[in-house]
Amino acid sequence: MSVRDVINERRAYRALDPVDITRDTIEELMEAVSLTPSCFNNQPWRFIFSRDSIEEVKEALSSGNAWAKSSSLIVAVTSRKEDDCIIKDREYHHFDVGMAAYALILRATELGLVAHPIAGYDPEIVREKLGIPDEFSIITLIIIGKHSNDTSLLSEKQAETEKRRPERKPFSDLFFIDGWGI
Ligand SMILES: Cc1cc2nc3c(=O)[nH]c(=O)nc-3n(C[C@H](O)[C@H](O)[C@H](O)COP(=O)(O)O)c2cc1C
Repeated sequence: MSVRDVINERRAYRALDPVDITRDTIEELMEAVSLTPSCFNNQPWRFIFSRDSIEEVKEALSSGNAWAKSSSLIVAVTSRKEDDCIIKDREYHHFDVGMAAYALILRATELGLVAHPIAGYDPEIVREKLGIPDEFSIITLIIIGKHSNDTSLLSEKQAETEKRRPERKPFSDLFFIDGWGI
């Protein structure tokens, strides 16, 4: 698949079937994260791959994310600001970790998996279950599984969203060429 194809293929699907997550699969995802650029090559990210401990992490899911109970791997994405560049008001750790998370998501997509980042969880439960130190911010969980056609665990709205990608804002609201607002 070309990069363009992988970008197009990726979707935040919620209907998931179980999938065997091997050590090789996890290492492929680690490799994608590891090659991500970061300020001064600081590599501020700490990713915790929860496979055998996944049932404990699922206790942290918000009710709106009950669909994620069908996942086979959950990746907790964490960082702390002192591990990366801080230039005046610019704190780069979340930026670098976001790029690394997207690299993982794209590689997972290429491997035929769904990789869906979420913000709806109780970080303190995740912290306790995975032993994440207090100073690390748990910025997202990436929910990983195999895409399914069974939408029975989804709300009506979520099932509808499976069929087509949520609309994007028009380019003219978001992108400018040669100057702000142009
Ligand atoms: C930081 C972040 C948090 C998100 N949190 C949730 C969430 O808690 N639950 C959920 O179902 N989807 C969540 N999503 C998925 C978005 O809703 C989804 O990416 C967006 O609607 C666009 O759809 P698409 O990714 O299929 O193109 C989140 C995505 C991001 C990047």
